[in-house]
Amino acid sequence: MRARIIGTGSYLPEEIRTNYDLEKMVDTSHDWIVARTGIVERRIAAEGECTSDMATKAAQRAMDMAGVTAEDIDLIVMGTITGDFPWPATSCLVQAQLGAKNAHAYDISAACSGFLYALSNANDFITSGRGKRALVIGAEKFSHIVDWTDRNTCILFGDGAGAVVLEGQESEAGVLSTHLYSDGNYWELLHQPGFGARYPASVDGIEAKLPFLRMEGNEVFKVAVRSLTKVSKEALKTNGYTSADVAQFIPHQANLRILEATTKRLGLTDEQSFINVHKYGNTSGATIPIAIDEANRQGLLKSGDLILSAAFGGGFTWGSTLIRW
Ligand code: COA
Repeated sequence: MRARIIGTGSYLPEEIRTNYDLEKMVDTSHDWIVARTGIVERRIAAEGECTSDMATKAAQRAMDMAGVTAEDIDLIVMGTITGDFPWPATSCLVQAQLGAKNAHAYDISAACSGFLYALSNANDFITSGRGKRALVIGAEKFSHIVDWTDRNTCILFGDGAGAVVLEGQESEAGVLSTHLYSDGNYWELLHQPGFGARYPASVDGIEAKLPFLRMEGNEVFKVAVRSLTKVSKEALKTNGYTSADVAQFIPHQANLRILEATTKRLGLTDEQSFINVHKYGNTSGATIPIAIDEANRQGLLKSGDLILSAAFGGGFTWGSTLIRW
């Protein structure tokens, strides 16, 4: 029994915020952003448009492709750190919007690795026989936790959602492996300080900008490249493959320099590596399912292909999966 991806979907909000727009907001330039990150533009959710709304649209598109209805879904698991509320889980709101009354739903907080963590959970759920179909979602509205006056961080992030439908099948195709890791010693390098138990909501906290994300970009960069490379190699080795066997590498789209450094260390060619970070920036837990959906709809994922994916994010968390399409 394998958990196989039978449908993919994504949703990107309409509003495009270009580097030229950012030039008017902070002391930066289009050329600097492109040279350091490869990002040209990102999407920004509309006023009142929430993570659950974006997730629901992506999930509906994935279910339409799969030819299943909401009632066919046994589990909804979503990677997000920018949910509609601290609780309840945003996946419960998605369940309600979809009418997936036979599913149970929960969120996973693993930052940019959230989708791969969710995929791993759903894979275990299906291969252990607990259910037949799962909706696995990555959705984020980072625009509300980004400080749009901080040029070090605001250039990097965007909003969006992606989803896949996983189904248990007696098949050679499907998820071959998942590997997940974390190291909480690095929590401070990438985090959102407020408001939680450590820094409860306060006027002082708002003035200190605690609700906005904090990042030590240089440090994150180094650990990200090392970890993505190592965990990708582990996925290949576990399954007895090498980089030459990979049809598409679909990594977390943090920024182009991280992607290029990782791809090079893995010995992958540009043709093997799927990149869309220039269009959307870093949508955290949503980058991988958005990229899988785009690659799929472009016809780049063919039956029998080996798809390698890896992610890295706050926590630190990181992981990889190898999928036979
Ligand atoms: N525009 C212009 N200048 C900027 C800038 C911007 N948007 N942001 C920072 N700078 C300046 C800095 O202030 C600094 O100036 P100084 O030398 O006068 O102090 C200079 O550029 C270099 O800053 P530095 O932070 O060393 O740049 P960098 O080459 O490390 O690039 C990042 C910064 C954020 C692009 C890079 O560190 C990075 O991509 N990190 C990984 C972040 C990431 O992907 N996080 C999510 C992982 S899931």
